[in-house]
Amino acid sequence: MKFFIDTGNLAQIREAYDLGILDGVTTNPSLMAKEGIKGEAAIAAHYKAICEIADGDVSAEVLSTDFASMVEEGKKLAAIHPNIVVKVPMIKDGIKAIKWFTDNGIRTNCTLVFSAGQAILAAKAGATYVSPFIGRVDDSGWDGMELIGQIRHIFDIQNFKTEILAASIRNALHIIKAAELGADVCTCPLDSILGLLKHPLTDIGLAKFVEDAKKM
Ligand code: E4P
Repeated sequence: MKFFIDTGNLAQIREAYDLGILDGVTTNPSLMAKEGIKGEAAIAAHYKAICEIADGDVSAEVLSTDFASMVEEGKKLAAIHPNIVVKVPMIKDGIKAIKWFTDNGIRTNCTLVFSAGQAILAAKAGATYVSPFIGRVDDSGWDGMELIGQIRHIFDIQNFKTEILAASIRNALHIIKAAELGADVCTCPLDSILGLLKHPLTDIGLAKFVEDAKKM
């Protein structure tokens, strides 16, 4: 399973990359706004900066919601760096845009996916990635992990090549479950990635080793 970091924060991207286990980055308009990125030039410069830190795919989301504007915006985003993957919302015009990008050699990430039916449409349009939002499904009283399992099953029996990118990850258990269910990618906040490191028995064991090392 590939690991992406889900943030627009350059320091966090650098910290995650320094761990040596990161494969890419996802962003969205909320994450970009949180970093104070505003205006076309600043947005492009920020994506370029992310691509220079990250050695892997970087999802950059279109801000428009109609077909023609999404295509224009996506072309500009894809021109920023070869690692840019154009992130497109799961709406009717979004599916049309994903098909257009697929036919024109631009890779895509279909975002805001909450059902297996939406994932099938994204795969049929040729999306590189489909992003089911686990945490938000859980928040609505359904089981986000059940959705990952269902999409995995469908993509396998239908031989769809679209990669399943588990998004809206809220904790370390989400990452472990997504891995168990065969998600191709997990995009996580830095805290959830670092959460995987933690176990109290590791801390207790290390403290004892450090103490005993003094006797050596
Ligand atoms: C993924 O690409 C999305 O940007 C992200 O995972 C959404 O997560 P949230 O539900 O925590 O905002």
